[in-house]
Amino acid sequence: MIALEQELHSLLAEATTALDNVQTLPELEELKGRVMGRKGTLPALMAQLGQVPAADKPVVGKTINAVKQQLQNAFETRTGQLQAAGTSRRALDVSLPGRTRPLGHKHPITQVMEDAVAIFRRMGFIVADGPDLESVWHNFDALNSPQEHPSRTPEDTFYFDLDRKHWLDSDTTILRTHTSPVQIRYMLKQKPPVRIVCPGRCYRRDTPDATHGMSFHQIEGLYVDRNVSLADLKGTLALYAQEMFGKDAKVRFRPHFFPFTEPSVECDASCIICNGKGCRVCKGSGWLEIAGAGMVNPEVFRNVGYDPEITTGYAFGMGIERIAMIKYAISDLRLLYDNDLRFLHQF
Ligand code: DAH
Repeated sequence: MIALEQELHSLLAEATTALDNVQTLPELEELKGRVMGRKGTLPALMAQLGQVPAADKPVVGKTINAVKQQLQNAFETRTGQLQAAGTSRRALDVSLPGRTRPLGHKHPITQVMEDAVAIFRRMGFIVADGPDLESVWHNFDALNSPQEHPSRTPEDTFYFDLDRKHWLDSDTTILRTHTSPVQIRYMLKQKPPVRIVCPGRCYRRDTPDATHGMSFHQIEGLYVDRNVSLADLKGTLALYAQEMFGKDAKVRFRPHFFPFTEPSVECDASCIICNGKGCRVCKGSGWLEIAGAGMVNPEVFRNVGYDPEITTGYAFGMGIERIAMIKYAISDLRLLYDNDLRFLHQF
């Protein structure tokens, strides 16, 4: 056996023993550098192949490759052993605090929606549902909306199939612009008395900004019976405001116009930020608009086959995003939809 081969074999033996004695990964890396690194023992020995007589080269070359291979295997095996030992030592360290994961929770819009529904359920309302894809008839015509109203144009409402249909046709499909068509669907199916709330998503062709989105949520209310009055409406919304915003919340009505109610009102709640004194959020007025409402227009009753001579009712509709913004003091609606967990985890 020529000298170089001998040296290779003793290197293998020494390195293997040293490897068995190594106890940590840094020690192992250090040993590996000394043996196999660019300036290590193995490359130095390999360089001597040039001086081996030509006839012996194939044999010595083979030995070099075999030793190199065995060393690589030995280092790999020992690395695996040390890593495994390290992991099991960590797993046994009972003093570690344990791994925590952030807790998930409901989106603020969902929370407000569920809170609102719960309040009305406690007052005796039941939940009714309707489709997001509506007909022009349910969304506008049956609600007494005049054909020339600008909100009906394709600039304001999302229409489907306008290449085949006209946007004034009663059976054209749209994305509902409010939850009020659920009133119509419910009354068509059900005789009075009616006491429902309808939470859901609505769509309008608005340019998104701090207070508008193309899609938003409303909760609609409808109460139909004999001898229902505006006082019933006011009492209901006053109680709702107290439950939603706190015991000190007050409401007031301002005259307004909606085609589906007569008379119509807008309902304000006293500003929860300043308690009615006037601040930036309520623009100094002390009041925040929370709902549109009124006494159901006899025309709407006729459209669903109710007799307006014996039936009376009130209806209201409110935006959920607006209530969430008031309740959680959020100044830009878009924050609610960016899905940035740093924001959402605050609620
Ligand atoms: N649908 C109205 C809107 O989207 C809100 C509304 C006003 C609903 C008065 C009603 C109502 O039921 O009576 O602006």
